[in-house]
Amino acid sequence: MARGTSRLEEAGVSTPRVDAEILAAHVLGVPRSQLLLSDGFTDETLLPFVQAIEKRATGVPVQHITGTAPFRHIELAVGPGVFVPRPETELMTDWGLAALAGHSRPVVVDLCSGSGAIALAVANERPDAKVYAVERSPEALTWLRRNAAARADAGDPHITVVEGDITDPSVLAELDGAVDLVLCNPPYVPSGTKVAVEVDHDPPQAVFAGEEGLDLIPAVIATAGRLLAGGGSFAVEHDETHGAEVPALLREDTRFAVIRLRYDLAQRARYTTAHKG
Ligand SMILES: C[S@@+](CC[C@H](N)C(=O)[O-])C[C@H]1O[C@@H](n2cnc3c(N)ncnc32)[C@H](O)[C@@H]1O
Repeated sequence: MARGTSRLEEAGVSTPRVDAEILAAHVLGVPRSQLLLSDGFTDETLLPFVQAIEKRATGVPVQHITGTAPFRHIELAVGPGVFVPRPETELMTDWGLAALAGHSRPVVVDLCSGSGAIALAVANERPDAKVYAVERSPEALTWLRRNAAARADAGDPHITVVEGDITDPSVLAELDGAVDLVLCNPPYVPSGTKVAVEVDHDPPQAVFAGEEGLDLIPAVIATAGRLLAGGGSFAVEHDETHGAEVPALLREDTRFAVIRLRYDLAQRARYTTAHKG
């Protein structure tokens, strides 16, 4: 374990110890919390561990090596072709779940759903909700459908997966004015931004959104404005540099009120919330 950690440290991995532990737990088939109690590596498990460490040292995300990413109380299957869900997005999901307090059988839409992280976390924590997940990429949809089926097998409610472009006004038109909560983590990184080597493993169309990074957000706001019922809640994640632009875009759309910029634990502008007036 110590050698794995120092190999990752040498390679410039920002969380060498955590990643070495996750990979060891994966190879040994035990929860990370039980690593200290395990018998350690055998002749059969040492080589896969060394191979996993070497992969990680070249910048392959730990989630692509284990094939899973945790998100709130669930695990998502991830790999090439789908965006790896990030812990920051758990904060926005938390806000959305809090906004549902007091609603029974709410209707929830996750725009730009990727692996289905947000939609499936909501279904897991609010089993009375009717949840829709909209995604355009065929590769991401394969992961999303697989995750939705796995969560349903685990006992969570089925979500409705919609293959569609969130800029298309006919997407989910049958729900216009009937949705209680719209959440969206769209692509928002300005093209040309130098990103961490791990981000190169995410599909570019999941990460970048034009020169300013704002190509998709006006359509996200328009779609949320169309779908939401009066009083419905909306949150959109965005780049930390868009703390002025996204609230301004929401103010321009006169359907929204109570527009608030929200920060992550490191005090970076992370998402903006609003309610339909
Ligand atoms: C940043 S990822 C977020 C994935 C997931 N919601 C999460 O938080 O992990 C953005 C997703 O939006 C999808 N996407 C990009 N443009 C889209 C569009 N016009 N319509 C629908 N989905 C789109 C991408 O394929 C990608 O899966």
